[in-house]
Amino acid sequence: MTKRIAVLGAGPSGLAQLRAFQSAHEKGADIPEIVCFEKQANWGGLWNYTWRTGLDQYGEPVHGSMYRYLWSNGPKEGLEFADYSFEEHFGKQIASYPPRAVLFDYIEGRVKKAGVRDWIRFETAVKNVSYDADKEHGRFTVTVRDLPNDRTYSENFDHVICCTGHFSTPNVPHFDGFDKFPGRVLHAHDFRDAVEFKGQDILIIGTSYSAEDIGSQCWKYGAKSITVSHRTAAMGYDWPDNWQEVPLLTHIDGQTAYFKDGTSKQVDAVILCTGYLHHFPFMDDDLRLHTPNCLASNDLYKGVAFVPNPDLFYIGMQDQWFTFNMFDAQAWWVRDVILGRITLPDPVALAADVAHRQAEEATIEDDYGCIWYQGDYTLELIQETDYPTFDVEGACQAFKQWKGHKKADIMTFRNNAYRSVITGTMAPLHHTPWKDALDDSLEVYLQN
Ligand SMILES: Cc1cc2nc3c(=O)[nH]c(=O)nc-3n(C[C@H](O)[C@H](O)[C@H](O)COP(=O)(O)OP(=O)(O)OC[C@H]3O[C@@H](n4cnc5c(N)ncnc54)[C@H](O)[C@@H]3O)c2cc1C
Ligand SMILES: NC(=O)c1ccc[n+]([C@@H]2O[C@H](COP(=O)([O-])OP(=O)(O)OC[C@H]3O[C@@H](n4cnc5c(N)ncnc54)[C@H](OP(=O)(O)O)[C@@H]3O)[C@@H](O)[C@H]2O)c1
Repeated sequence: MTKRIAVLGAGPSGLAQLRAFQSAHEKGADIPEIVCFEKQANWGGLWNYTWRTGLDQYGEPVHGSMYRYLWSNGPKEGLEFADYSFEEHFGKQIASYPPRAVLFDYIEGRVKKAGVRDWIRFETAVKNVSYDADKEHGRFTVTVRDLPNDRTYSENFDHVICCTGHFSTPNVPHFDGFDKFPGRVLHAHDFRDAVEFKGQDILIIGTSYSAEDIGSQCWKYGAKSITVSHRTAAMGYDWPDNWQEVPLLTHIDGQTAYFKDGTSKQVDAVILCTGYLHHFPFMDDDLRLHTPNCLASNDLYKGVAFVPNPDLFYIGMQDQWFTFNMFDAQAWWVRDVILGRITLPDPVALAADVAHRQAEEATIEDDYGCIWYQGDYTLELIQETDYPTFDVEGACQAFKQWKGHKKADIMTFRNNAYRSVITGTMAPLHHTPWKDALDDSLEVYLQN
């Protein structure tokens, strides 16, 4: 096969794409040449921890949004690879909420086994992607910067698969008084170590996973108090005594934060947990995805093929209940379009599919509806390829239990265990309750 494919990014989505092609090759298929461009020096995407914030040593924006002591926020039974179980990787079943280093090890294990590292050009940042419909082959031109050598070059490809993630470019609102606030104001993207906030009164803006988890981290590692300010609705968990939920911040005067209900609070630091932007500055205007963080993204047929130009694909662009296994389902499906095993319909049908998915998303009433919607979507793709099918309903049930455990006690939900939908084995209970487990190293976590 003479086709050339560019995969942008070697995080979980990009690695799923490499594994999808390698798996077809292993089964005897003729596969195209794959070139993966990754701006960091290692793979794993967000799971590849960096202490850096702001710009990196080459002046590139730091991709990492993960922080020390981060544990999975959902049960691992909801994200397990169907072709590479936790038991296969660790040689035993492990507890259900692995810390970052453990999940990084698991992600890496599958691609090490697949032997695809040579397909990746590390420390190579994608700077521009353009498309020329008049060419017979290689219509995409991908321009990259080889960072260590400070050299820019371009190559042509028949397809581009964008896997650069969407939880890296922070959404940073302004509040009056930030310019004179004497403490730190930072976005979750730049948060690295909860110990920094020990003994402090912390104000968090936002009510989603970053707010919940960064607040919980600061609580666990000794913050004096946590105040969480909401725009739409409070999270409503049964929080510890030194944790309160308040309406939206109106402004800060000195160290005093004022909220919409007229109350106020003295704070030492402000952490904006206000989400992220889908940001693809390297894409030409006609190739750039514009979408909010939702389940049925704009302009993506089957959630992956870019409707205005279906030679281009985006992976992992949805809001995420399912993650690694959904990226796999998407990657196998994209691979099969490129291998000619799946045929895309005409442009009208491409757009109609998006409209249909968006109309369905609009009818969802709660988080449970979101979980099953994304489970059904994942299964829909799996059924059209040879990705090993698994008990998606079982994974949805694990998420349902997880939500129940959070409601029962937000500071103990990570002490629960669930059954693998890949191997059927029950996870062991972790040896130490989450709030007392201050060492999150792989060695300590695996001591079960
Ligand atoms: C703080 C945080 C915690 C999370 N915790 C969980 C969790 O507990 N469980 C879970 O399942 N999911 C979690 N997620 C969701 C996360 O999005 C997925 O787990 C996963 O990392 C997404 O994979 P990805 O490959 O799509 O994107 P990413 O992991 O973001 O990887 C994208 C890759 O593209 C590279 N890249 C970006 N731009 C360029 C460029 N211009 N040129 C070259 N390379 C580029 C990046 O360097 C990176 O390696 C979390 C997300 C965040 C922000
Ligand atoms: N492993 C872990 O424990 C962990 C930890 C952190 C993050 N994550 C993952 O990271 C991803 C991103 O989560 P996220 O919480 O950063 O983003 P998110 O889910 O997109 O949530 C953004 C939050 O910011 C609020 N917001 C946005 N603009 C605002 C404004 N101008 N003023 C006030 N509030 C504003 C939103 O409020 P509204 O509701 O009003 O819109 C919402 O609560 C998720 O996939 C999550 O699972 C995981």
